Amino acid sequence: MDHFHYRGGVLHCEDVPVPAIAAAYGTPTYVYSTATLLHHLGEIQKAFAPAKPIICYSIKANGNIHLAKLMGQHGAGFDVTSGGEFFRAQKAGPKEAKIVFAGVGKSDAEIKYALENDVFLFDVESEEELHTIGKIAAGMGRKAPVALRVNPDLPPKTHVKTDTSVKGVKFGLDIETVLEVSAKVVNHPGLDLCGLHMHLGSPILSAEPYRQGAAKAVTLINAFRRQGHKVTMLNMGGGFGINYRKDEAKPASAYAEVILPAVRETGCQLILEPGRFIVGNAGILVSSVLFKKETGGKKYVIQDAAMNDLIRPTLYGSYHRIWPVRLPDGSAERPEVDMSVNTDVASPFVDMPGTIRQEVVGPVCESGDFLAKDRPLPPLNRGDLLAVFSAGAYGMSMASNYNARCRAAEVLVTGGTHRLIRRRETFADLVACEVDCTG
Ligand code: LLP
Repeated sequence: MDHFHYRGGVLHCEDVPVPAIAAAYGTPTYVYSTATLLHHLGEIQKAFAPAKPIICYSIKANGNIHLAKLMGQHGAGFDVTSGGEFFRAQKAGPKEAKIVFAGVGKSDAEIKYALENDVFLFDVESEEELHTIGKIAAGMGRKAPVALRVNPDLPPKTHVKTDTSVKGVKFGLDIETVLEVSAKVVNHPGLDLCGLHMHLGSPILSAEPYRQGAAKAVTLINAFRRQGHKVTMLNMGGGFGINYRKDEAKPASAYAEVILPAVRETGCQLILEPGRFIVGNAGILVSSVLFKKETGGKKYVIQDAAMNDLIRPTLYGSYHRIWPVRLPDGSAERPEVDMSVNTDVASPFVDMPGTIRQEVVGPVCESGDFLAKDRPLPPLNRGDLLAVFSAGAYGMSMASNYNARCRAAEVLVTGGTHRLIRRRETFADLVACEVDCTG
């Protein structure tokens, strides 16, 4: 479900025509829908309601303060993975928003900063980190609340670069030896081992890994308790998949069905860390066609968004739907053409006369700079606007200045209104951190 749809052949975000946004702010621009964002947060809140979960929005998916603020206003806490994300979360959230801090490489300064700012829970990923947090906290006269992040050693379930619960990845503590680690910190003066954390990977399109992970979590929580740890929290992480193509994703209720029994059995407070599920389909990237060319039997459409704006296709071979913002003449009137963007990837255009397979690429100087390959699209012309869908998560948050490209603007739509929530970077921004470059 999202709030991007065609009206009269023109793509709208909620009630705002996308061409109006492009005219006001230029391209490339990320456009987010408030209604979509809140809808997806609401889906998770509803599905898990019996457990009264703490939903910590994973700020790495999209850290824009304005979006994070919306999350905080609607009851979410935050999952962070660096001091910088902690800072963002604090700026965005109300004072009472709970912040959980994961990541394999927390620095001493980050640990101190989190403790000084009342971190709700550290998700601890190694024995050395555990003892370091304990030492720093004890030195501050504090007891750090920690959950041990366990790698449950499950079969592969998503892209190799984002699967975090197969044997041998850098994340978490090995399930075989985690009890030896926890045994050493019973009654530790600086540690309160009060939780268990698992983040299985991202995106995961099946509930089955969560069922298996939750079962292992129950066994471990019971074992921690036998050792003398008062475990009260079960953090099942994020990773819930979304529809990048059509209907491949599961509803939040499918994940709730397999996670809630573990919550009941352990009596733990449930924590979840969804990012993509909330913000993924709440954002599009709008670009403009610059040039077309034909070479090696391929038709290229060169538009002004590139791998520095959205790296997912290049990095993971990810699929993002791309559609023209204005449908070709006549198509809006064709009754057999489904105008919903939630339909099959190519269906509105694939059987339309004149549809051609095109390579959608950007201006960056790498052959790997592409947003789509071999994609059926109507003929496109200079100045035509394109919408790259499902770009709300891991789009802007992974954007860079490669090729000294200014990062895109971000715009938030609410009903019939739009506002700039991050301005487009300028050339001056590009050199702003390079000391003494003004003379
Ligand atoms: N919790 C932890 C500890 C995580 O590492 C992550 C994501 C999440 C929660 C949120 O996962 P989500 O609900 O958003 O799937 N750049 C990749 C995704 C990397 C995910 C990293 N960790 C992509 O573009 O697909």
